Amino acid sequence: MKKYCIILTIILTLNGCQKNSNNFTDSAIAINKKVDSLLKIMTLDEKIGQMNQYNGFWDVTGPTPKNGDAKLKFNNLKKGLVGSMLNVRGVKEITALQKIAVEETRLGIPLIIGNDVIHGYKTLSPIPLAEAASWDLKEIENSARIAAREASAAGTNWTFAPMVDISRDARWGRVMEGAGEDPFLGSLIAAARVRGFQGKDLSKHNTIAATAKHFAGYGFSESGRDYNTVDISKNTLYNVVFPPFMATVDAGVRTFMNGFNELDGVPVTGSSFLQRDILKGDWKFDGFVISDWGSIKEMIPHGYARDGEHATELAIKAGSDMDMESHLYIKKIKGLIESKKLDIKLIDDAVSRILRVKFELGLFEDPYRYLDAEREKEVLYHPDNQKGVLEMAKKSIVLLKNDNQLLPLKKKNQTIALIGALANDNNSPLGNWRTNSDNNTAITVLEGMKAYPNNTLIYSKGADVNLNAGGIVKFHEKVEINENDKSGFNAAKNAARNADVVIMVLGEDGFQSGEGRSRTDIGLPGVQQELLEEVYKVNKNIVLVLMNGRPLNINWADNNIPSIVEAWQLGSQTGNAVAQVLYGDYNPSGKLPMSFPRSVGQIPIYYNYKNTGRPGPANAVFWSHYNDEVNTPLYPFGYGLSYTSFKYSDLKIDNKTLSNNNSINVSVNLENSGEFKGKEVVQLYIRDKFASVTRPVRELKGFEMVELSPGESKVVSFEISESLLKFYSANEVWESESGFFDIFIGTDSNASFQETFELTK
Ligand code: BGC
Repeated sequence: MKKYCIILTIILTLNGCQKNSNNFTDSAIAINKKVDSLLKIMTLDEKIGQMNQYNGFWDVTGPTPKNGDAKLKFNNLKKGLVGSMLNVRGVKEITALQKIAVEETRLGIPLIIGNDVIHGYKTLSPIPLAEAASWDLKEIENSARIAAREASAAGTNWTFAPMVDISRDARWGRVMEGAGEDPFLGSLIAAARVRGFQGKDLSKHNTIAATAKHFAGYGFSESGRDYNTVDISKNTLYNVVFPPFMATVDAGVRTFMNGFNELDGVPVTGSSFLQRDILKGDWKFDGFVISDWGSIKEMIPHGYARDGEHATELAIKAGSDMDMESHLYIKKIKGLIESKKLDIKLIDDAVSRILRVKFELGLFEDPYRYLDAEREKEVLYHPDNQKGVLEMAKKSIVLLKNDNQLLPLKKKNQTIALIGALANDNNSPLGNWRTNSDNNTAITVLEGMKAYPNNTLIYSKGADVNLNAGGIVKFHEKVEINENDKSGFNAAKNAARNADVVIMVLGEDGFQSGEGRSRTDIGLPGVQQELLEEVYKVNKNIVLVLMNGRPLNINWADNNIPSIVEAWQLGSQTGNAVAQVLYGDYNPSGKLPMSFPRSVGQIPIYYNYKNTGRPGPANAVFWSHYNDEVNTPLYPFGYGLSYTSFKYSDLKIDNKTLSNNNSINVSVNLENSGEFKGKEVVQLYIRDKFASVTRPVRELKGFEMVELSPGESKVVSFEISESLLKFYSANEVWESESGFFDIFIGTDSNASFQETFELTK
């Protein structure tokens, strides 16, 4: 503790600061002064150390490593050559590391500890794509809050989330980690997640720094294959990819992560256009940028850097401040400074940014702020957190179909057959990103259904999910590969035959989506489709509950199965959430954040497409269409049903002319015309009919969630101002352009209720 006290005293004295003043509410000036003072007394090696992040490498609380990589890293840590670590968890382990950094290094600069806290730490909420389906910004913020509470109690003070990559390609496994296809919804959710993680005061022991990732364009990997080339227009980059990143900067996000992909021929890790011109220049971002895992080194196979030294030079010049696991900064920066290939000012800038965030987190004031073993015990898996993620999970479920009103289920005197391996799986619902949590801890659908004891419940597995798809096997503790075993079909059919209702839980294994899990066939894996069709032959009263990390191709089910529920991977409380929705204790209110294609051939498919010169159908052949499939998705963006029904009427606009000085009010009457109390997300879309660059056929520009009892109505109104109409124009600025606009209001992105106004400037 001695050295730490000395350095802290020097800094505080130089700046005349009081103890307890190193927090987020401190003026930026005060923190900048402290950073400058510290920088002045740092050696070049110590500066480089701050830019170096290591993965967890040895049994920290065990014996000191004697050789190999672990020894090297350990020694570097002792020499003050490590600024951050990832994948180290828990108070005991992190305290041991922090002690070395603070008490054994010359300056005692504390480590910042990063982890992938993507949708919860121990208690898991739904995967981010599922949460996005709630369209409930408060609940999403609260879910991130819960994650921050738990992560910070276990010593983590920085999360590599939210992932804000827009994607239009369900083949890409990482769609599970984002908010879907729409930049407007995506921006609001991105900001909500940043607020949830960071809170209002970053220096509090229960808030953590957030990361906007992956900057930029990663969601557009060609043909949905992870890590693949990205080739998108400036128009798409600015109007579709950038907005959620901009929203995180506005929300005060403290770090950015670059990525694995290239953009316009330049790996984004080496892109000064993205990191220096846009992020740190135009957007005035004063936090720091972390590379993606090994992405600095990957500029070599990309064919952009000659060797490690060149990769380092390119990354630093481009504005990548911290090296995650390329181990290049620690080896190469010094030589580059000595040979004058790098200017020390670039290093000072990077280090200042990193130190600033450490000050804001309060780590200099108390490096053990996040390391309280008592709190850790108390907060992890706390019942309040379980309650919170259950709320989030219920709100994330989307009702896709409910013909014959099979749902909600009757609560007594029913025989219910529950079929599918996923119905009895306590691991898959945790999703792919549960590195901090414990396997096999989800409440299963079977367990959730048992909470309704007045029906007879018969469970039959039917068939396994095909674990061979997607290279998931090695992530399983128990490996049970079952590609085509149909031996369980008969038992499942027998269970179904005399049931009043059959619930079939089918979909993807928890590791079938996520990083590195791209698929070319997004149907139900393995023999599940066959199982569904076989069971249908003996009982047509089927409720299909989907469990998956991406939009699936479910045409047959849509044509034949009366009720379909999209239940994604809902985290720790999955079974309770699904059962409460199936039984009507929660009336589903979710809306799809991503279009469901009719076939993989339609991908990329998204609601805010461009009209083209041949929107047709002009004649049979020569218009923009397929010969073998319609253009529309199976379920569009924004789509989702309720057990009740809603009637839209009386669309009104108070002024048909908009200028810079006024705003227009547009309203619609919403009536609950069904028999249950329920929530509807009323959606506003706008089309800019003619502009200096082509504009989408419609764009989401507002939404409101309304809860109504049967027979109740409400007038829902939206304010439209000129700023809502801005886009990145042919002048290469964000501006609106005069002209005519269509407004659509309704229940999803096919909303047909229409009005028109003119913008005059
Ligand atoms: C992912 C990042 C993640 C990092 C650290 C990478 O493979 O692309 O999103 O934060 O690993 O786990």
